[in-house]
Amino acid sequence: MGFKQKLSALALKFIHMTIRKPKKIKIFGKTFILLPNVFSPRGTLTSSFLARNLGVKEGDYVLDLGTGCGIQAVFAAEKAKKVVATDINPQAVKCAKINAKINDVAEKVDIRCGNLFDPVKNEKFDLIIFSPPYLPGTPKNLLEHAWFCGEKYEIIKNFFMHVKNHLKPNGRIRMVYSTIADVNFLFDILKKNRFKWFVITSMKTPMERIFILEIKHKN
Ligand SMILES: C[S@@+](CC[C@H](N)C(=O)[O-])C[C@H]1O[C@@H](n2cnc3c(N)ncnc32)[C@H](O)[C@@H]1O
Repeated sequence: MGFKQKLSALALKFIHMTIRKPKKIKIFGKTFILLPNVFSPRGTLTSSFLARNLGVKEGDYVLDLGTGCGIQAVFAAEKAKKVVATDINPQAVKCAKINAKINDVAEKVDIRCGNLFDPVKNEKFDLIIFSPPYLPGTPKNLLEHAWFCGEKYEIIKNFFMHVKNHLKPNGRIRMVYSTIADVNFLFDILKKNRFKWFVITSMKTPMERIFILEIKHKN
């Protein structure tokens, strides 16, 4: 891990250490309950940046993979016909269920626990939302799955090896990524798996540039 990546992992650890009991937060006018050991959209930048740039179209069938507290699923449900939200962390699943309920979208949002595409084996979506862990490293507990993606970016690699099977024709992916991670690795994986992409928007911070990508398969 490089210096900036180490610093970022430390900052994330610190932000989450301070969340010892359920906490109420507000994001763009909506209330969310944050449980301990779930990725926090407060104190971090990627969640709200992605939530503002989801690109959901009226009637879309959406997958929010790695839902965390359910923030993307809740915002996507404003326009989507249905949202399936998944996470490997059972505490995140519990948290996302609470947030779907308090935001009155529980009937539209189906929340499931599991690794990558395991919980949606034969399902295809118009839009797949992914705010992945992108720091190289091995998670040592459930929470660390939120930022460590494996020593060799295995989560990112596996996601793009399998995602095509879960996209409807002309289906799209909205994903957040950062220059703090290995950007060339991501673009190589996209090329190898025959995806095209463009940058929807980006944001500069003192440490990194965070960007939102729209990704489609070349077919
Ligand atoms: C950076 S957090 C984003 C959370 C949320 N989407 C947001 O925008 O705040 C990444 C999420 O992906 C989940 N995750 C990591 N690896 C996963 C995997 N293999 N399968 C499913 N979810 C995973 C983590 O538990 C975490 O909740």
